[in-house]
Amino acid sequence: MSLTPPSQRIWWNESIPKTEVLWIIIAFCWGLVMFFMMIWWHGAGEQNLSNEAYRNTPEAYSKKADEMIAAYTVRDENGFPVVRPPAGSDVYLIARLWQWWPILELEKDQSYRLHVMSMDWQHGFSLQPVNINIQVHPGYDMVMTVKPDQAGEYGIICNEFCGIGHHTMLGKLYVVEQQ
Ligand code: CUA
Repeated sequence: MSLTPPSQRIWWNESIPKTEVLWIIIAFCWGLVMFFMMIWWHGAGEQNLSNEAYRNTPEAYSKKADEMIAAYTVRDENGFPVVRPPAGSDVYLIARLWQWWPILELEKDQSYRLHVMSMDWQHGFSLQPVNINIQVHPGYDMVMTVKPDQAGEYGIICNEFCGIGHHTMLGKLYVVEQQ
């Protein structure tokens, strides 16, 4: 029962006009193009980081980070240890309310396994000005193989709202020429 019944009672059984069929085909093909572009850009666009994730606990993770900090700290910067781990090694960055700990100093054109994990809530790792972004979760150790190709001072900002101190969650990363 309808207030405005269709004039033709079997309206759903009409053939589709040619132009509509054409648009459906175009839209479907475009959808396929965009789907395969995702795969293409993953390799060719250098936009998506290929990363690994492992379940971990804050205790075990911070123990690894502390060991690295104890072994390779080269100086202090406003209470933050500046850590220069050997090229090729596993490097640990801690995200927590509300800091990135410690400050890492990496060598240009050397490869590192960069670990990032949150000790508490969800944070967002955003490396500026190069704009590399990854989500940082509690309970997951994210590992990225990185090879910095430009020396300089980089900022790490948190781009996931994590409470009252979110806007103060700023870190630093140095890339230095090989010595
Ligand atoms: Cu951490 Cu916002």
